[in-house]
Amino acid sequence: MKIIFATGNKGKLREAAEILGEGFTLMCPADIGITEDIEETGETLEENSVIKADYIHDRTGMDCFADDTGLEVDALGGAPGVHSARYATEGHDFDANIDKLLAELEKCPGEPRTARFRSVVTLVFKGERHFFEGTLEGVIAPARRGGNGFGYDPVFIPDEFPENTVAELDDETKNAISHRGKALRAMAEWLRENA
Ligand code: IMP
Repeated sequence: MKIIFATGNKGKLREAAEILGEGFTLMCPADIGITEDIEETGETLEENSVIKADYIHDRTGMDCFADDTGLEVDALGGAPGVHSARYATEGHDFDANIDKLLAELEKCPGEPRTARFRSVVTLVFKGERHFFEGTLEGVIAPARRGGNGFGYDPVFIPDEFPENTVAELDDETKNAISHRGKALRAMAEWLRENA
């Protein structure tokens, strides 16, 4: 089936294509001439994923989905959470965000560095919304390691691979355990049963 993933993030798009596999023709907004940034003005991951999915559905009438992901760090009271993309600056500056995260954790010596990625996916199918969620538990590394993935991957050590950051895992391994992998596989299963 043909479906639009409401994202401009190439890393997310590549992951989703691998996770959903054959049977889905995945398009992104740029493929159909929508290139503007969608403003994420919500106060929760749910709200932001709805904003992105509705934006694309309202303009195209097509089935589509969006994800919004946050990194929740326990020692920082769940921050950066819904503000993960713009933690350090207004732009999506992955490097600056990681620098700020490590600096904030240095101010909490002795505190556990436990954290999780949480993804909320909103699917708009035949005009109706459906929600799917996935989490990945782990700890924040003291410094960056690895060159794969994107975003906070170089400083996130998943519980399943305590020797590696997510940026040291190959795509297939990340997708098998990741927050987005879990949410998108649940969505794909729902679509296979209901589409
Ligand atoms: P958003 O869902 O695009 O708003 O992402 C929020 C922030 O989390 C951005 O800085 C992303 O780069 C980061 N992020 C989203 N998904 C992942 C992931 O799978 N790994 C690492 N960082 C991520």
